[in-house]
Amino acid sequence: MKMPDLAIVGGTGLTALNGLEIIQEKVVSTPYGEPSSPLVYGQLADREVVFLARHGQKHTIPPHRINYRANIWALKQAGIKHIVAVAAVGGITTEMSPARIVIPDQIIDYTSSRQHTYFEDNLAQVTHIDFTSPYDPFLRDQLIQLCRKTAINAVEQGTYGATQGPRLETRAEISRMERDGCDIVGMTGMPEAALARELELGYATCAVVANWAAGKGDQAIIEMAEIERTVGLGMGKVRTLLEQLVPSL
Ligand code: HPA
Repeated sequence: MKMPDLAIVGGTGLTALNGLEIIQEKVVSTPYGEPSSPLVYGQLADREVVFLARHGQKHTIPPHRINYRANIWALKQAGIKHIVAVAAVGGITTEMSPARIVIPDQIIDYTSSRQHTYFEDNLAQVTHIDFTSPYDPFLRDQLIQLCRKTAINAVEQGTYGATQGPRLETRAEISRMERDGCDIVGMTGMPEAALARELELGYATCAVVANWAAGKGDQAIIEMAEIERTVGLGMGKVRTLLEQLVPSL
C-alpha cells in the first residue's frame, strides 16, 4: 500500500477517530522529545492516514505543554505531506456560533514562551519562513469544497487568535482580539501552523466552535461541560468531512 501522506491532528473532542480501522500504532521519538501520542496508522475511507492526538490519547496534555515541535517533526519523519488540524475554538464574531465549522485563513499569535521554531541552533544561515498566508491554500480549498458538497454550512474564512491558556480569556481580552480582527480563539493553533510551514508541510485547520468566547454569549461564565457537549456535536461534522477528504486528496 502507498505510504500515508495525510495526517490528522485531533484536538479536544477528537482524541480518536471513529471509523478509522487501526493498522498499527508507532511510538516514535524525535530530537525534540516525545510526541503527544503514538502515531496511529489506520485506514479511513480506503486510504491509509496517520492520526495524532494533540493532547495525548487520554487528553491529559494542556495546550501550553504540548510538544508541538516533536509532533510536527514526527509527522514529517513519517513521510506526511499534508496535515489537517482539528481544533475546538471559541467564537468571537457573529457568524462563529457554537457547533459551526470554520476554515480559518489567518492567524494572530498571542502565545508566549512556547518552543516555536526549529530554526535556532546550528544554523547554516538565519532562516525566516514566509507566513503571509499561514494555511495551505490547496488544503483549505479542498476542505471548503467538501463542506459545500456535504452541505456542512462552514464559515469559509476567518482569523484564528491563538492564546496561551490554559485559562480562558477575559471579556476585555476578547474585545481586544475582536478589535484586532480575530474571529475565533483557541490555544493550540500556534506554533503548530508555523512549525508545519518550517518543515514545508501543507497545513490547514478545521475549527469547531465550542462556545461563545468570553463576554460574547448570554452566559455569565463559560462551562467546560458546555464546551464538551458542543464540540461533540460539531465533531460529527468533522468526521463526515474527513471521510470525504481522504479519497479526494
Ligand atoms: N478560548 C480559547 N480556547 C478555546 C475556547 C475559548 O473560548 N473554546 C475552546 N477553545
